[in-house]
Amino acid sequence: PPLISRGWLDVLEQEANAALPPHIREYVATTAGSAARAAQHLAEWDAVSFAPRTLLGERSLALETSVLGRRVASPVLIAPMAQQVGAHPAGERATATAAASLGTVVGVSTNTAVPFGEIRATGADWWFQVYPLAERATTARLVERAAVAGASAIILTVDTTALLVSAPGIEPTEWPEGPERERLVNLTPDELVALGGRPTVAATLDDIAWLSEVSGGLPVVVKGVLRGDDAARAVDAGAAAVIVSTHGGRRSGASITSLSALPSVVAAVGDRAEVYIDSGVRSGGHVLAALALGARAVFVGRPVMWGLATAGAAGVERVLRGLDAELALALSQSGATSLATLATELDVSLG
Ligand code: FNR
Repeated sequence: PPLISRGWLDVLEQEANAALPPHIREYVATTAGSAARAAQHLAEWDAVSFAPRTLLGERSLALETSVLGRRVASPVLIAPMAQQVGAHPAGERATATAAASLGTVVGVSTNTAVPFGEIRATGADWWFQVYPLAERATTARLVERAAVAGASAIILTVDTTALLVSAPGIEPTEWPEGPERERLVNLTPDELVALGGRPTVAATLDDIAWLSEVSGGLPVVVKGVLRGDDAARAVDAGAAAVIVSTHGGRRSGASITSLSALPSVVAAVGDRAEVYIDSGVRSGGHVLAALALGARAVFVGRPVMWGLATAGAAGVERVLRGLDAELALALSQSGATSLATLATELDVSLG
């Protein structure tokens, strides 16, 4: 099939859904609110508009940029997601392989079933995502191990304390042996309900400096802010970047969208830290809109899972290449002179 044709990602989603076992399909697709609400959140990305520029002179369609001072071939990064071996036996190894071959960053979930060493072996630039566990020492050991295995940043997810416990047969391989692991891996549904679905603890501002220290000085990226004031507090506490995110709509059925929150976060953070966004990015045009609103990069979640489910690393590569091709096209159509100057050249309105 052509790399991009109208609706290519919808077709891929259908193919993935046909390939996935029902419980994984359900896990990937799930959102916190109604289906209508989820559709509304996605539609908001398509309602963005701007007046295309003309006559600006010399133009570049290069997608290369940097995040946290490290070069990436594209501003499209891979969101950390659990249960990847449920979608494909190679799991995170495949996703990281795709990231390495495309020259982008891959987020790796706290719950990865693929050992850090295998992720490192792909050569990918990987960022380790942390949910603070109830036992701080366990979190510390996980982060230390990730740093030793070459993670180049720590993503602290602050929007979700509920740890969706593994599907049968999928274990968070890297969690140190011990009571915490035994308890969490073996939770029965009843025990999970008794815990209020919350075997992890809520993140605090102090965790930012603590994680930086425990990781030997890695930059900490705070994932899941939807307010300018929270973003500013995270940056004041040492965050190198924030991710504006609704966790793909999985956190709250009543939440505002990440897209509508982006301008206030960009305004609050200024040039003190980088701002990224995720939740609902489904085309190169969406990436362009995010960058024009001041995001430095975007993370993509479910589409990567769909690629993984259909064809492992090759499927993830196809998704990334497709989004990059669309982004280059959207950049060209916008008339702006480059990716880096989008935010000053285009006035984007939402909805
Ligand atoms: C996630 N997400 C997520 N986030 C996180 O910080 N740690 C995690 O372990 C997971 N796990 C996870 C599993 C699955 C199946 C999905 C779909 C998502 C959230 C993820 O990082 C990201 O915020 C959203 O997926 C982005 O939205 P889209 O691109 O899926 O719309």
